[in-house]
Amino acid sequence: MKLDAPELLQSPLFEGLPPEAREIAEQAFRTMVYRPGQTIFEAGDSGHALYLIRSGRVKISHCNLDGKEKVLAYLNPGEIFGEMSLVDEEPRSATATAVDEVTLHALYLEEYWGLVRRYPQVAHNLARILARRLREMNHEVEILTFEEARGRIAYALLKLYRHRYGEPTARGRRMGLTHRELADLAGTSRETATRVLNQFHEQGLVHAESRAIEVLDTEGLENVLYDL
Ligand code: CMP
Repeated sequence: MKLDAPELLQSPLFEGLPPEAREIAEQAFRTMVYRPGQTIFEAGDSGHALYLIRSGRVKISHCNLDGKEKVLAYLNPGEIFGEMSLVDEEPRSATATAVDEVTLHALYLEEYWGLVRRYPQVAHNLARILARRLREMNHEVEILTFEEARGRIAYALLKLYRHRYGEPTARGRRMGLTHRELADLAGTSRETATRVLNQFHEQGLVHAESRAIEVLDTEGLENVLYDL
């Protein structure tokens, strides 16, 4: 399968490259397909490739010492993961699982270096992707440390929204997500997530269903987050 989807060619990894570089980049990627629920790799595995998501969602998660799963992120088409081990050659820092049927384009270390030698901008683009993730993580640590459940859930919804998760609607954005998945993202219980979602629903901030949440009012969610 060719890397011909225009939205993938607009990946931040290719930013600032001339058109012919993109064609060369296409040749460097290998395509793979995963079934829903299939593990792409596990935390601790050795890893020599980064992945660009062509279609489907990927869950990035980690197990605590007591074995409880913590979801770090849900990633969407156009996003990149696995870049950390590619860069530092340390084991995978988290587990990646296909949520739906997922098609990925993998870039292995050797091909990555081939691209970087020709186009050093690729390495800078990857550094920017890492810097952005670090900024986001610093912000997230602050939220998870200081915010109550309402703030954490508002933050998780805003993060998904900013990552353009789900589909745009006339009123906002509808995201396929169970209350349990949202609870895992916000580091709270399923019961608390449902209670808070019901409050947000009544306040007109979201339209909550059992397996989907439509975000209606991002400003209102920001106000919850910053307690305005
Ligand atoms: P790597 O360590 O190679 O394998 C796991 C990948 O998950 C990691 O690279 C990142 O691409 C991704 N990842 C790790 N932590 C996070 C996070 N907090 N948010 C989003 N993605 C992450």
